Amino acid sequence: SAVPNLLGVTPAPMRARQIQETIANYVRAAERAQRAGFDGVQIHAAHGYLIHQFLSPRTNKRKDRWGGSFANRLRFLTEIYQGIRERLGGGYPVLVRINGNDFLPGGLGPAEAAAIARHMSSLGVDAVETSAGTWESHLHMSRGDIPRHYWIYARARGEEKEKIKARLTAMAPEVRFKEAYLLEYARQIKKEIRCPLILPGGLRTVKVMEGILERGEADFISLCRPLIRDPEFPNLIRRGLVKKSSCLNCNLCLVDKPPVCYQMRLRPPHF
Ligand SMILES: Cc1cc2nc3c(=O)[nH]c(=O)nc-3n(C[C@H](O)[C@H](O)[C@H](O)COP(=O)(O)O)c2cc1C
Ligand code: SF4
Repeated sequence: SAVPNLLGVTPAPMRARQIQETIANYVRAAERAQRAGFDGVQIHAAHGYLIHQFLSPRTNKRKDRWGGSFANRLRFLTEIYQGIRERLGGGYPVLVRINGNDFLPGGLGPAEAAAIARHMSSLGVDAVETSAGTWESHLHMSRGDIPRHYWIYARARGEEKEKIKARLTAMAPEVRFKEAYLLEYARQIKKEIRCPLILPGGLRTVKVMEGILERGEADFISLCRPLIRDPEFPNLIRRGLVKKSSCLNCNLCLVDKPPVCYQMRLRPPHF
């Protein structure tokens, strides 16, 4: 909908025909992935991307069948999933990534997130992954240090610099790193679904990961920064050589390009 974002940019609402074309494009993209030999596809319905914009009451103020009620906001994701499933067949893994919490006023919270997960599970999705945050509440996705200097000094000018500085400073306590920082949202979703749950978000030690799996709080662990830090991390765990990721959660890989570990002067133990 025509709701200005935090930078003051107001998007144009999609017309009904564009929505149908976009659904068809998602289905075609999934089909290409299958033909190219991928083992499965994951529908990205989190992080403020298009599907999430339809799901969230903060960004979807439409008055037609694509917005308003919860059922209408779910329609875009539902039709994409059903189109993909129909085209790719029942045996092909189709997963979905959703937000357990947007951490934004008027955005998706844990209760609606659990309802979305329940709905997707009832449709037959093969797994739900629970993330959090959108580009407007970015560091809830990858909690840790805020690379303030990079964001403020490399990107912003004048008054904007001061605004960004104030916003990042205010956000710092909320996004302080804590191991398994998305677990409480995953717990709520896990109760609602029949398919497996995948948990990302600050998993760093074998002890915590094993505990979560043993207690049945999640079925799979998802790792990002530990693998940027050291792609061998899972193999080293399997061989009993490490018990903890050496990632510092500095988030430099998040802001610089390419997304590699910028702390390689502090090498992981086996390098
Ligand atoms: C450099 C970088 C790039 C990322 N890119 C994406 C992305 O394209 N899509 C996505 O869903 N999440 C992305 N994420 C978020 C991660 O998938 C993950 O959910 C988050 O970092 C928390 O997991 P971690 O603590 O293991 O890093 C990215 C994270 C980082 C650090
Ligand atoms: S730059 Fe390296 S240490 Fe810092 S968060 Fe990324 S992977 Fe971890």
